[in-house]
Amino acid sequence: PKPGPLAGRHALVTSGPTHEPIDPVRYIANRSSGRQGHAIAAALAALGARVTLIAGPVTVPDPLGVSVVKVETAAQMLSAVQVALPADIAVLAAAVADWRVAEPQVGKIKKQPGAEVPALRLIPNPDILATLSQPGPARPRLVIGFAAETDDVIAHAIAKRLRKGCDWLIANDVSPASGVMGGAENEVHLITAAGVEDWPRLPKDAVAARLAARILQELTGETP
Ligand code: C5P
Repeated sequence: PKPGPLAGRHALVTSGPTHEPIDPVRYIANRSSGRQGHAIAAALAALGARVTLIAGPVTVPDPLGVSVVKVETAAQMLSAVQVALPADIAVLAAAVADWRVAEPQVGKIKKQPGAEVPALRLIPNPDILATLSQPGPARPRLVIGFAAETDDVIAHAIAKRLRKGCDWLIANDVSPASGVMGGAENEVHLITAAGVEDWPRLPKDAVAARLAARILQELTGETP
C-alpha cells in the first residue's frame, strides 16, 4: 500500500459478474464489465488503503497496487470474501448471479437432433452482501452495496439497503437508455441512514474517487 489517509485500513471490494456453470462450456451470468468495482478498488488504494479485490471473470485490467483474487462462481466469491476478512471497509460491487444450476454436468450436454431441450433446475446463490452485513465481530465497520435498477431506482434502493442490512447503498439506473451498462459513465445516488445524495453523472473513475473520499470522511472525518 502507498502512504495516504487510509493507511492501515483494509478494504475488500467485489467486482465483475459471476459465472455459474451449466456444463464445462456453458454458464449463466449477469452483465457486468467490472469497470466500476475495479475503479473503486483503485481509488481506495490511491488513498493508502490495503485493498483486496475479489473479481469475477472480467476483461478490464487488474488495478495497480491492489491484491486481486480471481473467482468464477458466487460460492467461490463468498469463500474468498470470508478468507479476506477482517476488513474495515467492504464495497460489494459485483453483479452476483442470483441462482446457480443445481446439478452442473461434468461433460458437455450434447445437442442431439430430435432430442428434448434440456431443462435447468436453478437453486439460489448465497447473498454475499447480506451475509457480510450481519452483525457480529467480523462485520466490517462500513459495508456498502450496489443496486442496479431499471425503474423506481430510489424507492427500490432504500428498501434494498434495509433488507440487506448494509450501511450504504449506491443506486444506479441501468435501463438500456441510461448507457451505464458497460459504459464509461455512471449516475448514482448514495443512500445512507441519513437520506439520499444525488451525485452528478460522472466518469466511473470519478464516481470511485468521490466514493473513496466519502468513505475516508466517514471513517476519519478527513477530506483527501
Ligand atoms: O439483490 P441485488 O442483486 O439487487 O443486490 C445487489 C447488491 O447485493 C450488490 O451490492 C451485489 O454485489 C450484492 N449481492 C451479493 N450477493 C448476491 C447478490 C447480490 O453480494 N448473491
